[in-house]
Amino acid sequence: MKRKIPIGVLFSETGATAVIEKTQLEATRLAIVEANRSLETAGFELVPHHLDPQSQPQLFATLGEKLILEKRVNILFGCYTSSSRKAVLPVVEKHNRLLFYPTLYEGFEFSPNVVYAGACPNQNIIFLAEFMFSTFGKSCYLVGSDYVYPYESNRVMKDLVHGFGGQILGEQYVPMDAGPSYFQPIVEDLASSSPDFVFSTVVGNATKHFYEAYREAGLSAEAMPIASLTTTEAELAIMRPEARAGHFTSAPFFASLLLDPRRSRWSHLLQQAGVPLNQCWESAYSQVLLFAESLASVGSDDPTRIVQDLRGREFDAPQGTIRIDPDNNHTWVIPRIGRSKSDGSFEIIRESRGGVRPDPYLVSYAISSS
Ligand code: ACM
Repeated sequence: MKRKIPIGVLFSETGATAVIEKTQLEATRLAIVEANRSLETAGFELVPHHLDPQSQPQLFATLGEKLILEKRVNILFGCYTSSSRKAVLPVVEKHNRLLFYPTLYEGFEFSPNVVYAGACPNQNIIFLAEFMFSTFGKSCYLVGSDYVYPYESNRVMKDLVHGFGGQILGEQYVPMDAGPSYFQPIVEDLASSSPDFVFSTVVGNATKHFYEAYREAGLSAEAMPIASLTTTEAELAIMRPEARAGHFTSAPFFASLLLDPRRSRWSHLLQQAGVPLNQCWESAYSQVLLFAESLASVGSDDPTRIVQDLRGREFDAPQGTIRIDPDNNHTWVIPRIGRSKSDGSFEIIRESRGGVRPDPYLVSYAISSS
């Protein structure tokens, strides 16, 4: 007899960030099917319960608590925006449950009830800033969606720009669901400010409108590229081809990695996934399989025992070997930089030699001019 383990899944199929959350949902579903095959010998079966929080942070909290109370889940997989994670955090802490969070974020947080599977600032923004400064220059214009992740990431970017002797030429925020008209005055200001590069923390559907307005205004990716941590293959997929070429994203995973024969073990995912593979897809996929390994090893989904088992655990992920840091529940990932192409994929142009330790509070990074 298999023991059924109920699992909570909180990703949006509707609303401002559904374009990326739908890929995390599909990754979770696919990984649960695969995990259930490998859990057979251990006598477990994961039973997912998915609810659609509609990209609304408060709904993530309400539905998370509903899954805990009504479906008796100990483990939740979910959240894209930092505002949704911050809304769910008090819920999982109050009930001592465990949230697996598969998204890059701004750092400066630790909860014993969260496993942070995406990249944190020392694994993406610093890597990206150093590349942009040395390749294009140190004058930067900040454009973001209006919520915590862009504000906090821009704070780090501003410190980096100033620390390296550069200049911030502008800082603008748009609503989460901003349409094309919001970006009109911004691209006009960009044309007259002419920074060396733009740092975009725009998320979700609005990303399409920003990149398309950029192109329509005649702003050139060659002369003044956009650098981002959140523009992935999922957002490129909904843009016009001419608008999506030549910009930069820093992430631990790009779908094009799976074309490498050394990763042939994972190449079936390019067809099977049914959605554009991207860094958030990859974290969502890997975290389920990581949890399944831990469940088989512990023999229980008790959150405290699972998190103890996960600390120091390594996993052979599509990006390469990842590891849960024993001190901070964040993940060792492999920083990379991709240049976007008109076909919607990324060419990988920089890659860290190995996994980089997560330093969510940036305690070991000294900002210095070079
Ligand atoms: C994010 O809000 N962490 C992308």
